[in-house]
Amino acid sequence: MKSKVSIIGAGMTGSTAAHWLAEREIADLVLVDVVEGMPQGKALDLQEALPVIGKDVSVTGSNDYAATAGSDIIVITAGLPRKPGMSRDDLLFANTNIVKKATEATIQYSPDAIYIVLTNPLDVMAYVTLKTAGLDPHRVIGQAGVLDSARMRAFVSMDLGVSIENIHCYVLGGHGDNMVPLTRASNVAGIPLEDILPADRLEAIVDRTRKGGGEIVSLLKTGSAYYAPAAAIAQMVEAILKDKHLIVPAAAYLTGQYGLKDIFFGVPVQLGRKGVEKVYEYQLSDQEMAALKKSAEGVKENIAKLNF
Ligand SMILES: NC(=O)c1ccc[n+]([C@@H]2O[C@H](COP(=O)([O-])OP(=O)(O)OC[C@H]3O[C@@H](n4cnc5c(N)ncnc54)[C@H](O)[C@@H]3O)[C@@H](O)[C@H]2O)c1
Repeated sequence: MKSKVSIIGAGMTGSTAAHWLAEREIADLVLVDVVEGMPQGKALDLQEALPVIGKDVSVTGSNDYAATAGSDIIVITAGLPRKPGMSRDDLLFANTNIVKKATEATIQYSPDAIYIVLTNPLDVMAYVTLKTAGLDPHRVIGQAGVLDSARMRAFVSMDLGVSIENIHCYVLGGHGDNMVPLTRASNVAGIPLEDILPADRLEAIVDRTRKGGGEIVSLLKTGSAYYAPAAAIAQMVEAILKDKHLIVPAAAYLTGQYGLKDIFFGVPVQLGRKGVEKVYEYQLSDQEMAALKKSAEGVKENIAKLNF
């Protein structure tokens, strides 16, 4: 029997995630959105592309959450994206209501599902899903770190002219401008970034990574990034369905790791069929730890505004 993945929100990130996932041929897909006809139309269009690329999965669109019944994974992308000049935090209240509704509506049909949350502000929306569904924390993961780390990898590759396959970057912390690109742990074929890049160029890459989402928002003028966030979702879904025990940076619920409790925060997590199997802890310098704490303060402030 094929796995089933339902994507709530069939907008730019949701439908692009369906596209990347269909290409991987790892699950039947359901797209749900509040806009009438749109998820059905996108799903049919994608289904009609599959004969060309030779992939056998079914793609269904619906406005009814009943279509998601029995999902192995629920991906939540429903919500408003940023407009130029907006921070991710500006979306807090509107998206809390949407994510709460999407969680309540899906958990009743898929009580065993693992949730991957994308909606911003990401770390807080993952918290909303966890508390709304009352799930064990290993079943809720927020996507941010795969994307932020991929951006950093792309920028290093563009600077050095080295294959992205040789470049390993790790960005931790909240999904905001205070995220923490770990330059000490990031490397090119095992050579620490700090040894291969002059300080000024490395600093420029760190800065561009932190502002990577905003750079795309300013260029697009309407909406925010979707190819890379959706590719990140596909990688996480595959790691879970294939029980790969893959370690990726992602937002996990912390219970004391890195000195943090009761928040979702970007850390290295091992993903497998049960969701988050393990959270890894780096030996951080005082400076890195201070940067993480600063990033965590922002997430905590937003959680406190919600009265959960
Ligand atoms: N975590 C990340 O790395 C990351 C990256 C990109 C975007 N995002 C966030 O993801 C969210 C979606 O971005 P997008 O570019 O796909 O936006 P989009 O506007 O293209 O799509 C969002 C979709 O959600 C739908 N929607 C709204 N309320 C709904 C509900 N109650 N039930 C079902 N669907 C509903 C809308 O109709 C729309 O089609 C935004 O909050 C954005 O900020 C996060």
